[in-house]
Amino acid sequence: FDVILSLMAAGYLSGTWLGALSVCRWAGVGDPRLMGSGNPGFSNVLRLHGRRLALATLVVDVVKGMPGLWLAMALGLPPWAQGLVGLGVLLGHSYPAWHRFQGGKGVASAFGVMLILTPEVALICAAIWGLLAWRVNTAAIASLASAMAAPLTSVWLAPEYTGVVIAFTMLVLVRHLLNIRRLGRGDEPRLDRYH
Ligand code: G3P
Repeated sequence: FDVILSLMAAGYLSGTWLGALSVCRWAGVGDPRLMGSGNPGFSNVLRLHGRRLALATLVVDVVKGMPGLWLAMALGLPPWAQGLVGLGVLLGHSYPAWHRFQGGKGVASAFGVMLILTPEVALICAAIWGLLAWRVNTAAIASLASAMAAPLTSVWLAPEYTGVVIAFTMLVLVRHLLNIRRLGRGDEPRLDRYH
């Protein structure tokens, strides 16, 4: 049990490294929390600063949780325990203690975690995200649809991880409440608005 808690804590710590903040600082461009949707994540960096920086943000957020997950799998922890380690990463990303608990929405970090635990589910969700983001030009719609598709895909391809995937989906949905409200009002910022 100590091992699970330590790995979860390590996951949390790695999750608090927000790709968007580091990348924008390195590049010397504005803080994404102060512009666009205000979200420190891939979509907002894409919206504000274009593809190159968005891609760098994505890489950080996707890979940061991987070492902990690899370790959890190598130690032979059961799927629910691996899921707790992944949840640690998502909680660190969304509620980072050093950023007054104001982090991102967990989509890229959930993708990175699932890429290790359930790669087929992760890739299908990423395909849905990409397709929708391209067609409807709205990140939140792509994120909400792929978050909801994840448990269904998991039931089909990786049933032992379905409980874990449902937990990730719920966290991502909670983090999108503001987007859902904006979508309802019709003033959700589009992905290509600023560049
Ligand atoms: O991946 C996050 C996305 O779903 C929403 O981001 O910046 O449009 O609020 P944003």
